[in-house]
Amino acid sequence: MSDQSATAVACANIALIKYWGNRDAAQRLPANGSISMNLEGLFTRTRVAWREGFKEDSLIINGLPVRGTALQRVSDFLALVRNMAGMDWRAEVVSENNFPAGTGIASSASAFAALALAASIAARLDLEPAALSRLARRGSGSACRSIPGGFVEWQAGAGDEDSFAASIASPEHWELADCIAVVSAEYKTTGSTEGHALADTSPLQAGRVADAPHRLDICRRALLSRDFDALAGIVELDSNLMHAVMMTSTPPLFYWQESTLTVMRWVREWRLGGLPVCYSIDAGPNVHVITERAAAGRVADLLGAVPGIQKVLVAPVGGPARLVK
Ligand code: DP6
Repeated sequence: MSDQSATAVACANIALIKYWGNRDAAQRLPANGSISMNLEGLFTRTRVAWREGFKEDSLIINGLPVRGTALQRVSDFLALVRNMAGMDWRAEVVSENNFPAGTGIASSASAFAALALAASIAARLDLEPAALSRLARRGSGSACRSIPGGFVEWQAGAGDEDSFAASIASPEHWELADCIAVVSAEYKTTGSTEGHALADTSPLQAGRVADAPHRLDICRRALLSRDFDALAGIVELDSNLMHAVMMTSTPPLFYWQESTLTVMRWVREWRLGGLPVCYSIDAGPNVHVITERAAAGRVADLLGAVPGIQKVLVAPVGGPARLVK
């Protein structure tokens, strides 16, 4: 065989309706469906080269060789690709994130989306979009949403076959932006994978999951009709629900810091003052402030002036994962 390598790029995404908890952790079958938007300009670029006769997979991230659990997670993922392609070669993986270092912006979604595309193409697997999204899901749940472009819905599905993400609207459908208020570059938190495993210990998780179809409907409709007020209400409710589950798990997970709450309060004030803004917070202290693109400059300036905010990143709605030279 000739060249068995490929390079792919995928953006990060921010969930507007969150994935928290799995029905099946090994297959990453989520407790509930989720909706996200891709983040243009925050991406991972990954090259995969399959090598005949190599004994082990290798991984370089941002120029540094990686071993241990991070390599194991990638190697377990590559084993799925080997299995699908019916081959036993090992891979050299070289990956770069363009996210500013130490900002705590999650990279597993863009990382496993880029890896799924590069590894499968390099293995001569030509997967349909749904199959590629299912594959990415096995690496990191949220990665399945970084395969399609724009505004994306991940159907929880009944099993592996129907648990994948698809676009519900293109990036051009609605010019929104995510202004990410970076609260702290130096924090240690419980990672999402460990966090998902605690979700069912919260007495609130069952209620959050049972109501998810309703929230998904409201969010999908708000996006399709470009209704910012409706979007703001459901996005903040959903983020608050997920954090209520986190805070009431055993052990409890508290991701917010003082500045997180300060930004949440200011966002509410600004919205009352007529600015189209709402907040959403993932498994860390940074605040994602969703706004209309025309207001993003103003929102970024306001956020930058809030005490405790180290930096503000602005990301418009991004496209799908793609191959590059
Ligand atoms: C809070 O997809 O990072 O960002 O599947 O274990 O890799 P793993 O978890 P991950 O979880 C994302 C959690 C979240 C909400 C979301 O993106 O939907």
